[in-house]
Amino acid sequence: MEAIRIGLLGVGTVGAGVFQVLARNGGEIERRSGRRLQVTQVARRDTAAAKAVVGDAAGISSDPWRVVNDPNIDVVVELMGGYTLAKDLVLKAIANGKHVVTANKALLAVHGGEIFEAARRQGVVVAFEAAVAGGIPIIKTLREGMSANRVDWLAGIINGTTNFILSEMRDKGLAFDAVLAEAQRLGYAEADPTFDIEGVDAAHKLSLMSAIAFGVPVQFDQCYTEGITQLQTQDIRYAEQLGYRIKLLGITKRVESGVELRVHPTLVPSERLIANVEGPMNAVVAHGDAVGTVLSYGQGAGSEPTASAVVADLVDLSRVMDADAAHRVPVLGFQPAHLSDAAVLPMSEIVTSYYLRLRVKDEAGVLAQLTAILAESNISIDALLQREAAEVGGEDSHQTDLIVLTHDTREGLMNQALARMASLPSVLAPITRIRKENLA
Ligand code: NDP
Ligand code: HSE
Repeated sequence: MEAIRIGLLGVGTVGAGVFQVLARNGGEIERRSGRRLQVTQVARRDTAAAKAVVGDAAGISSDPWRVVNDPNIDVVVELMGGYTLAKDLVLKAIANGKHVVTANKALLAVHGGEIFEAARRQGVVVAFEAAVAGGIPIIKTLREGMSANRVDWLAGIINGTTNFILSEMRDKGLAFDAVLAEAQRLGYAEADPTFDIEGVDAAHKLSLMSAIAFGVPVQFDQCYTEGITQLQTQDIRYAEQLGYRIKLLGITKRVESGVELRVHPTLVPSERLIANVEGPMNAVVAHGDAVGTVLSYGQGAGSEPTASAVVADLVDLSRVMDADAAHRVPVLGFQPAHLSDAAVLPMSEIVTSYYLRLRVKDEAGVLAQLTAILAESNISIDALLQREAAEVGGEDSHQTDLIVLTHDTREGLMNQALARMASLPSVLAPITRIRKENLA
């Protein structure tokens, strides 16, 4: 059979990985796909750097339009990143009848609806396994492996940079900025690392997973997004003392009134497997009514781990590209005509439990005032921890930290209670609130 001719847009961290994996494992891959996967043309502005990777094995250009307009290319692999040029190139490739593989979660989270619809009309495939959790085959797991289930919820550590930062801060007591710089050096971080630390990259990935898990449109613009920049080391420490780890989780749930879609630091019981996912590793826990809980774990970033997912998409494509479009797996796993319009709930409507840290005056009656407010909001306390004043503020200190864990409540009620507690004269600083998930 004829080789599948591939055009690579971008020969950076992931692009170079794809080239290397195809070169090293080409024979083994062909035994699976039945066709040779051959990169015939690549584009990168720095053509000398591209040459250092591909040598004479493929044509090299600084112009990505040459790749998408090349009539001899069957599949365009977009590994440039960004939303503007990448979007135009992907839409042009689709219009030219080419299949597309991309690792670009930002592009699909923001423009996925338009791109998937263009591909559907043109009868081509847009594949994006590498866009969520790098090398972990989580798209395939949710879209195909769990297709018998009604998926209720999923939660994931889906940003390696922030998990690496949290692990290093907790284990080695290193400062945030130093660990972020190391994550950038190691190639985990996005071109703009605020996407990592502010939770945006995780929100991109979560909105794609939510769409596939529940058969809803990609709704990145509705995702609640809170990163790790406000986290304090003392909360990481207090959480440990109470038997929890703090992780940046992407969480999506299907409840009667709609869909929860949120990324934020989260306390997770230390005994959960996902609480022990450290460094740049990723993990996703998904719950289906038939299978129960499924945990996927692996490298969520890096050159060859991400290339592994890109090449797996190419192998899948080699099997279905000549098939009639109706017989391929739908892009979100559900038939487009059967997508649900379940709304993303506002945060005030979500139900979860909370960790609160209050810096308070160390005097009689303070605890009673605070617990009275929680009781009036019908919020039940699960655990309480008060540090000795001397431990918090040194000898002669008249203030202390009070840590409260609550049972599940509606976030709107918690917001009201927090506003009332913050206005008490005995509460001396802004209250820290971190959401807590049991993930049982
Ligand atoms: P890099 O920055 O390492 O590579 C980007 C490549 O695109 C470079 O070769 C760059 O080369 C080329 N490029 C950018 N703009 C242009 C342009 N206008 N014309 C031609 N070439 C261009 O990024 P990564 O490989 O890390 O990431 C690629 C994609 O994969 C992104 O969408 C990212 O989010 C995603 N991803 C990355 C992961 C990772 O671990 N790195 C993991 C999962 C997904 P030059 O500057 O010479 O033009
Ligand atoms: N910046 C991303 C991360 C790369 O840290 O997880 C993988 O998508």
